Amino acid sequence: MLQRVLRSTIIDAPIERVWAVLRDFNSHDRWHDIVAQSRIEAGQGSSQVGCVRNFALKDGHQIREQLLTLDDAQHKLSYCILEASVPLQRYVSTVTLKPVTDGRRTFWQWESTFATPPGQERELRDMVAKGVYEAGFDNLRRHLQQGADLRTPGSAPMPMGLPLACRRVTQSAYGGPEVLVVGDSEVPHPAQGQLRIRQRAIGVNFFDVYLRRGWIPAMLPLPGTLGMEAAGSVLDVGEGVTDFVAGDRVVYMAPQPAAYASLRNVSAEHVVRLPAHVDDDTAAALLLKGVTADYLLRDLGRVKPAARWLVHAAAGGLGLLLCSWAKRLGVRVVGTVSSEDKARLAREFGCEYVIVTKDYRFADAVKQHFGDGADVIVDGLGDAAREENFKALASCGHWISLGQVSGALQPIDPDLLVSKSATFSRPVAFAYVPTKASLAERAQRVWDGLGDGSIKRPPMERYSLEAASRAHEWLESRRSTGTIVLLA
Ligand SMILES: NC(=O)c1ccc[n+]([C@@H]2O[C@H](COP(=O)([O-])OP(=O)(O)OC[C@H]3O[C@@H](n4cnc5c(N)ncnc54)[C@H](OP(=O)(O)O)[C@@H]3O)[C@@H](O)[C@H]2O)c1
Repeated sequence: MLQRVLRSTIIDAPIERVWAVLRDFNSHDRWHDIVAQSRIEAGQGSSQVGCVRNFALKDGHQIREQLLTLDDAQHKLSYCILEASVPLQRYVSTVTLKPVTDGRRTFWQWESTFATPPGQERELRDMVAKGVYEAGFDNLRRHLQQGADLRTPGSAPMPMGLPLACRRVTQSAYGGPEVLVVGDSEVPHPAQGQLRIRQRAIGVNFFDVYLRRGWIPAMLPLPGTLGMEAAGSVLDVGEGVTDFVAGDRVVYMAPQPAAYASLRNVSAEHVVRLPAHVDDDTAAALLLKGVTADYLLRDLGRVKPAARWLVHAAAGGLGLLLCSWAKRLGVRVVGTVSSEDKARLAREFGCEYVIVTKDYRFADAVKQHFGDGADVIVDGLGDAAREENFKALASCGHWISLGQVSGALQPIDPDLLVSKSATFSRPVAFAYVPTKASLAERAQRVWDGLGDGSIKRPPMERYSLEAASRAHEWLESRRSTGTIVLLA
C-alpha cells in the first residue's frame, strides 16, 4: 500500500523569495541540514524539467531524484526518486507554495506518496515527515533569516542580502548564434532603486542580434548578456523603492541589456506592474514592440485617416503589431514580406496590399498601389533597401529608419531629401519612455489595445532560455513570424 505524507507551514517571507530557493533543484545543500552535497548530473540547468540531482546525505545515504514538473506561475514543482540507498520506493513528491493574503508570508505544502518494505512503513513515514519536511521548514526559515533581506520597503533600512543563483546566457565573443552560452551565475541583492526580478519570459528582439554580432560594442562589452525586456515577479527590492513589493507581477524594458537570465536586478524606473489579464509571455513579447508601435502611431507617424504607410517585415514581431493597430486607426497599410505564407498573415493583420520580395524590390509596386508613394515608411531593413525606400516615398513623405536587419544604413545626404521635401527620422524606443510615467502610459495603451481588440495578438514562439541560440537562428532565418520569447 502506498504511504502518504503531507506537511505544511507558513514561512515569514514573500512567496517569490521562498520560491527562488525551492525552484533551484540543486539548492538543498545550502539550506537543508540533512544534505551534505548536491549536484545536478549531465550539466543540465538546476531548474530544468528532467534534470537529475544527486544527493549525498550527512548520514551517508545517497539519493538520485528527478525534477518532473516546475510551474513558476503556480509556484509548484514535483519530483521523484530514481535511486536511493534509503528503501523509499515509487517516491513522488510535490512542493506547492501559496501567498498568504498579506503578501509578506507564504504557505508551503510538501507532500509525497511512496511504498516501503513491509514493517518499515511507520519508520519511513516519520523519517520523511520529520527528518525531511519539518526539519526542512525550519532550516529554510533559518536560511532566509540569515539572508536578512526579507524586509519589505518602509519597514527599516535594508541590509545587504544574499546573492541568488540564476541561469544566464552570456557571450564572450561577438558573432553568430553559437556564441550564446548558458551557465550558472549569481545576482546580488538589488542596489538602491532596483528590483530583483524572478524572470519567467524574456522578449527576443532583432536588436539583440545587432548587439550579439558586435555592431554596437559600447552597449554590450564582453562578456555580456543580451536582452532588453522581460516579465516575471519581484523577488525583493533595494533601498528607496516604495512602489513595488515582493510578489508583484511586472514587466520591464531597460536601455541596458542583460535580460537573458532567470533573475535580474533592474532599476524600478523601467518597470511597470502587469494587469491580471496580461500573461507573462505576452507582456515580454509585446512591451518593447508595443511601445514602438505606440510612438510610431501617436508621435512620429502623425497618423490621420487614409494616411498611406509602407511597413517592412510586415509579418515580423513589430510588423504584425503595427499593421493591426495602424489599420484600426484608419491607416492604409502596404507591407513587404519574403514569402506567400507571410503575405497571408500580414493581410490578416491589416495590410491592404502585401509585396512579396526577398531582395528588397518594392518601390514600383508601392507607387502603383498608392499613386504618389507612401506618406510614411517604417523601415527596419536598412542599407539594402535604401534606394527603393527613397523611391517609394511620396512627396513630403516621412522615412522612419528604425532598424537595419540587412546592414547599417549609410549616411543620407540632406540634399537627397530636398528633392521630395521629405523628412527622415532615426528613433529609438527608449527615448519615447524617458520617465516611469511615460512607460506606464504607453504600456497601458498596449494592454488596453490587446484587451479591446485594437491590437491583434501576433503569433508567439517560445524557446527555453537554454535554447537562446536556436531562437536567434530562427529569427535570422527570415522564416519566423510574430514574436519570440525565451522561458526561464
Ligand atoms: N528603433 C526602435 O525603436 C525599434 C524598436 C523595435 C524594433 N525595431 C526594428 O524593427 C525591425 C523589426 O524588429 P523585430 O524584432 O520585430 O524583428 P522581426 O521583424 O520579427 O524579424 C526581422 C524580419 O526582417 C526581415 N528581414 C529582411 N531582411 C533580413 C535579413 N537580411 N536578415 C534577417 N531578417 C531580414 C524578415 O522578414 P521578411 O523575410 O518577411 O522580410 C524578418 O522576419 C528591426 O529592424 C528592429 O531593429 C526598432
